[in-house]
Amino acid sequence: MNIIETSIDTGSAAFKENRELMLKLVEDLRSEVRKAREERSEKARRRNAELGKLPVQKRLDLLLDPNTPWLEIAPLAARGMYEGDVHGAGSRAGIGVIHGREVVVHANDPMIKGGTVYPMGVKKTLRIQTIAMENRLPVVMLVDSGGAYLPLQSEIFPDVDDGGRIFYNQALMSKMNIPQITAVMGMCTAGGAYIPAMSDHVVHVNKTGAIFLGGPPLVKAATGEEVTADELGGAMVHCQESGVSDYFAENDAGALAIIRDLVSSLPEIRKSEIPRRAPLEPLYDPHELYGIIPKKVSTPYDVREVIARLVDGSEFLEFKALYGPTLVCGLAYIHGYQVGILASNGILFSNSALKATHFIQLCDRQGVPMLFLQNIAGYIIGREYERGGITKDGQKMVSAVATATVPKLTVIIGASFGAGNYGMCGRAYSPRFLWMWPNARIGVMGGEQAAQVLVSVKNEQLAREGQPPLAPEAVEMIMQPIIDEADKMGNAYYSTANLWDDGILDPAKTRDALGLAISASLNAPIAERDRGFGTFRM
Ligand code: COA
Repeated sequence: MNIIETSIDTGSAAFKENRELMLKLVEDLRSEVRKAREERSEKARRRNAELGKLPVQKRLDLLLDPNTPWLEIAPLAARGMYEGDVHGAGSRAGIGVIHGREVVVHANDPMIKGGTVYPMGVKKTLRIQTIAMENRLPVVMLVDSGGAYLPLQSEIFPDVDDGGRIFYNQALMSKMNIPQITAVMGMCTAGGAYIPAMSDHVVHVNKTGAIFLGGPPLVKAATGEEVTADELGGAMVHCQESGVSDYFAENDAGALAIIRDLVSSLPEIRKSEIPRRAPLEPLYDPHELYGIIPKKVSTPYDVREVIARLVDGSEFLEFKALYGPTLVCGLAYIHGYQVGILASNGILFSNSALKATHFIQLCDRQGVPMLFLQNIAGYIIGREYERGGITKDGQKMVSAVATATVPKLTVIIGASFGAGNYGMCGRAYSPRFLWMWPNARIGVMGGEQAAQVLVSVKNEQLAREGQPPLAPEAVEMIMQPIIDEADKMGNAYYSTANLWDDGILDPAKTRDALGLAISASLNAPIAERDRGFGTFRM
């Protein structure tokens, strides 16, 4: 493999300017994540302490092996939604290590509106379950929730991807032999009662944990019976009488210790094998990425400079280096794992789409995970390219991406527009994980282009009616709101709040997230490689 040669001048004015801006974006990101983890009302803190419950961070600390990596998922889900304080959509989630075994953990935060589940909370739970299913990871749930956030019940309950899907998935996971361990550390009310009930193992904390289909207020309203939560569905009821729970724990710490024992008793698995070698730091400092990524997503740069700061030893075996230069493909290692990289280096032309299709086939056959570095304005348009069959060449690439069976990972490092999002393995193409960089933008097209399209549609309508085109002020009135909306809805925070991604990454830490994600993905078998692809339109 060759070491990528850099042509970056770290002393240049452009580098310094880019760096300033990215440093600010990264600082904002850190402070947003800190706020999501820590900002809780005094009232909620007091209540949690009164009940003798540990804060979520402490629960995670006791659950996971000390000093092991934690790959947090969607820490900024629901950011800016609802009243603005439903941090992380009301829960913490991630992939952590228990007795050396990678597991998915999902913990309600009772200090956020009693741990109730908002619409984004349902979406986050479904995402966690998808990650568990695709990567065959055991699931640990620390339940402490008032159930559905009742004022928004119509957005949580009735549809296919609403609350019921969570329990449906639990049944499927059990059938798939994905272990599910639940600790009842607070309320599991109504639908929430099915989270432990549908799990394989249930640990129940005395006094604070309760499971019931209808809580005390509902029982009183329905039957007049006065009963406490503990009498109705506490640990003694369910461990001694009903048999709903399996393990009795005196307190939070005791429950977490039992979960650790349960994980250590799970049958060992053999992770999938992919080509590996000893891990190596990149030759160039990943922090230099701050100065390399241009201020504007539309400014072109050589994506090899990014690859050089993500991969081991900055070594890269580039595939078809001289052909289809707007997509850079090749093999590299990240934290010792071999990956096939597809990195945008401009708009996708027919030759770059064909090169991608060829490279995806190779990775799939060789069982090599793929990493998509997405910075794409779309596929090329225009008469010449339509005649050249850009649509059918795009089809081959999109089809290959959709049907490849090796783990796929995507990082949106700049723009993610149009069908380029599809070909470069956007969310709908089921990458095992997808992240944004803080500078990234996503949408059907940029706001400016969208606004121009609408202005020209309007002008054509007027021309058909024999009227003059829009005056400059009218153009402005059409364009500005569309540009503003696209700006707001196309940024990384909007994306992550809506769970269009698994989180925003600091570019300098991306390599570590990728290493953890590849490792997690290998818990699932890599599917038979002779499954082939769909029809390629020739
Ligand atoms: N929907 C909307 N808001 C809810 C809620 C629900 N299901 N359950 C609790 N909340 C809100 C409370 O109104 C309170 O809001 P505030 O901080 O703005 O005053 C906050 O969550 C905390 O609730 P509180 O009762 O003060 O805290 P707690 O720790 O003593 O008890 C619960 C938490 C969840 C055990 C308790 O609130 C409860 O039993 N809720 C009802 C559960 C239920 O019946 N759910 C059925 C839905 S499936």
